Amino acid sequence: MSFAIPFADRLNNVETSAIRELFKLLGKPGIISFAGGFPDSAMFDVDGIREAVNAALTEEAGGALQYGATEGYNPLREQLAAFMTGKGNQGVAAENLIVTTGSQQALDLLGKTLVSPGDKVIVEGPTFLATIQCFRLYGAQLVTAPVDGQGVDTDRLEKLIVEHKPKFIYLIPTFGNPSGAMLSLERRKRVLELAVQHNVLVVEDDPYGDLYFGDAPPPSLLALSASVPGSRERLVHCGSLSKVLSPGLRVGWMVGPAELLAKATMCKQFSDAHTSTFAQATAAQYLKAGRMPATLAKVRAVYAERAATMGNALRRELGDAIEFVQPQGGLFVWARLTGAGGKVADGGELAKRAIDKGVAFVPGAPFYANNPDHATLRLSFATVGLDKIEEGVGRLGAAV
Ligand SMILES: Cc1ncc(COP(=O)(O)O)c(C=O)c1O
Repeated sequence: MSFAIPFADRLNNVETSAIRELFKLLGKPGIISFAGGFPDSAMFDVDGIREAVNAALTEEAGGALQYGATEGYNPLREQLAAFMTGKGNQGVAAENLIVTTGSQQALDLLGKTLVSPGDKVIVEGPTFLATIQCFRLYGAQLVTAPVDGQGVDTDRLEKLIVEHKPKFIYLIPTFGNPSGAMLSLERRKRVLELAVQHNVLVVEDDPYGDLYFGDAPPPSLLALSASVPGSRERLVHCGSLSKVLSPGLRVGWMVGPAELLAKATMCKQFSDAHTSTFAQATAAQYLKAGRMPATLAKVRAVYAERAATMGNALRRELGDAIEFVQPQGGLFVWARLTGAGGKVADGGELAKRAIDKGVAFVPGAPFYANNPDHATLRLSFATVGLDKIEEGVGRLGAAV
């Protein structure tokens, strides 16, 4: 007799990502892929990480290999606090943050601790796909605030806050995934003022803020919260070493009000007990060795060149068939098909045609929690060399 596994009702709220289907096609030989959402493995500082592993095993084998505290390995919490302070986030001490298994786990813990079925959460349109899925798994009803070249539209955001009284607002203010947008300084201050004025929690997800190409972006919401009274206690900040050092380490962190960190720590205890102490000790040694500034300088320079090459190639090969804001950091070009001259105007349709021509990217529609814009697409320049970017965009030009 066949057996139907009695899955929990919460799974009815989510479906596997539409993007997965596309990823199956990426194995085709000769495909140039702009579809990934990850850093270039060729740029990992393998020597530095090897030294950090050796130092962790030499200096602190007990700590690196034993069970550890759920909040995180203290030497790493200290290093992360110093790293954050060095970037202008004043007033962040080790006890103000917990280490998470990637920032993805921080998002999951926020879903677990804050969302009851039917609660409203405001997200950007577009936003990080895994966040949409994660919050929905906890029964969140997502409300979408529109994003333009300056990040989230704060006037619309305020209207949505008043109308929906959300549990919290989730933003990726700096080089968002997938939007690539950078929230302006003025809007950043406005977001914090709105948090205080309407008494609502804001989550700042910031895995890309260090990956800027020219001038540094405006200070994080966390840094700015020092100058907006009442905003720090309504703010959660998620950080990650994934995009700057190595996603395989699975080291992320969350800065937030003590009460929230305590509940999140309780939930983490039931989830993975603690983030790998081996990875944490390695990350702590890496930061302690002072290698991060040189690593950041290197990845910024490489991604900046790739982003510029992709932008120029898109303008040349696709002309008025596409529009986009040239990213100032991060890993992505977020673009819109215009349909000019009868060219393809649907991102999903172009993705299929592009695969036939030997190039892949991700259509933008799945990144919207509501009302998808089907003309959008996300192109990652991060893992592709300059020649291949030129060639891949040329193929895209032939597909459109
Ligand atoms: C916006 C955003 N948040 C969080 C994550 C999760 O990263 P990790 O769990 O590797 O820190 C990602 C990864 O792509 C992301 O793009």
